[in-house]
Amino acid sequence: MKKILITGATGYIGRRLLERLLREDGLQIRLLVRSKRKLRPDTVDKVEVVEGDTFDQQALALALKGIDTAFYLIHSMGAGGDFEDLDRMSAENFREACIAAGVAKIIYLGGLGVKESASKHLASRIETGEILSAKPEKIQTIWFRAGVIIGAGSASFEIIRNLVQKLPIMITPTWVKTKTQPVGVEDVVSYLAAAIDCPFPENTIVDIGAETMSFKEMMLAAGRLMGLKRWMMPVPVLSPRLSSYWLILFTPIPYKMAAALVDGLKSETIVLNANAQKYFPQIKPRSYDTIIRDALREIEEDQVLSRWCDSSAGQFCDIRDRDLVSQAILRDVRRIGLGGATPDQVFKSMCAVGGESGWFTYNFLWRIRGLIDKLVGGYGLSRGRRSSNSLRVGDALDFWKVADIKENKRLLLLAQMKLPGKAWLEFDIQSDALVQTAHFLPRGILGRLYWYSVLPLHHFVFRDLARKIVDQANKLPR
Ligand SMILES: NC(=O)c1ccc[n+]([C@@H]2O[C@H](COP(=O)([O-])OP(=O)(O)OC[C@H]3O[C@@H](n4cnc5c(N)ncnc54)[C@H](OP(=O)(O)O)[C@@H]3O)[C@@H](O)[C@H]2O)c1
Repeated sequence: MKKILITGATGYIGRRLLERLLREDGLQIRLLVRSKRKLRPDTVDKVEVVEGDTFDQQALALALKGIDTAFYLIHSMGAGGDFEDLDRMSAENFREACIAAGVAKIIYLGGLGVKESASKHLASRIETGEILSAKPEKIQTIWFRAGVIIGAGSASFEIIRNLVQKLPIMITPTWVKTKTQPVGVEDVVSYLAAAIDCPFPENTIVDIGAETMSFKEMMLAAGRLMGLKRWMMPVPVLSPRLSSYWLILFTPIPYKMAAALVDGLKSETIVLNANAQKYFPQIKPRSYDTIIRDALREIEEDQVLSRWCDSSAGQFCDIRDRDLVSQAILRDVRRIGLGGATPDQVFKSMCAVGGESGWFTYNFLWRIRGLIDKLVGGYGLSRGRRSSNSLRVGDALDFWKVADIKENKRLLLLAQMKLPGKAWLEFDIQSDALVQTAHFLPRGILGRLYWYSVLPLHHFVFRDLARKIVDQANKLPR
């Protein structure tokens, strides 16, 4: 049995790698995660889990004990101005802990591109690869480099899909002509999984990608595959900042991420070595058309495995904030009798809030709140939901994050909108009633002013939300 450690298993790539490796024989899988609750309960039964992060030496030692191959699928982008320092420290800690534990191989996924023209984010990804590979005499590092990763829920795909769907004519910056080599997320996962058994002679960099295309070609092809005719007009006057604002207006991506992506798109991201064919001749990366079709199908079939907003990004581990809910000092509590509905019906109904079907009532107010949030740099409502019929802890849900779920009992949402304080929305099924509570922990005077100024809106929105959830529950089959 080979012992494998996956880090980043609650992130976009890590979740998909985990699903793939769980289907393979002969592997014993361990995860290092910042919160175990973000994992699906049935997954927890099949793997070993160590809670902690790469800044916790004890957790690292525990997670790496007896491991043969360790996947490093972590980054700190979104953590604020010092993300490069965090990434540097994290990679050093990880490499040293791997060496101390006698791990044979680290497998890392970074980005395509060269140092000289790299954006701040890419430069940090390159530095991470260099740090992990810095002691080849003590540990082998296989460093995959991918450019644009396309799959349902990937940031790049969401940008393409939203722009193409929403804008028949696009005025674009000239860098849409920059060349890149997109690759499908499932192909990325195939390479990562195959690297476990591949006998590399030494530290190896493996560049991966399908056909070379410009961003303009990628968008036009996506339009064609969605049955939409689109026109693009590159103009030299669109600055990176303006392009980022454009992205946040029409896509679910927040400003920080949009700015990093735009910055990265200015230079070519193409494959610079032939190691993918040399070491993995059995893997044939799917064409761009096929990966777009597959991504669209995954969304259509409501089978999205992971999304760009699964990880905690800017915050250390956002869902830990659920523990603060008891510290809230302002509350709006609604208690509605179940009217004959069973806990199962009410639970299903309350777990259907948000996304495309909206918030049952006063949807225009929710949309206005979302727009205000977008304008001040938040997510707004545009992240929607991963799946229309299921939720898991850590899922983004419009401008909320799912912080806790107890089957047929409780749903706790943590607000990720820009607020002068911390807010939660809790649904709790009691024996005879649904208790819905909006909790708020204000920050200073501004926080209190905010709460009291939105009270009239809360009065209608929250009162009717609880009622509609129960009404809807009574219409569901038992
Ligand atoms: N996604 C892409 O399009 C893309 C493209 C090219 C390359 N890559 C590379 O692929 C790798 C994985 O990216 P991703 O998109 O999957 O990232 P992601 O979705 O943002 O996930 C990051 C993961 O890292 C975990 N994490 C962050 N800091 C940690 C720490 N200090 N200790 C332990 N866990 C930590 C997060 O945990 P929480 O859930 O607790 O936040 C999350 O599971 C990165 O190296 C990235 O550069 C990705």
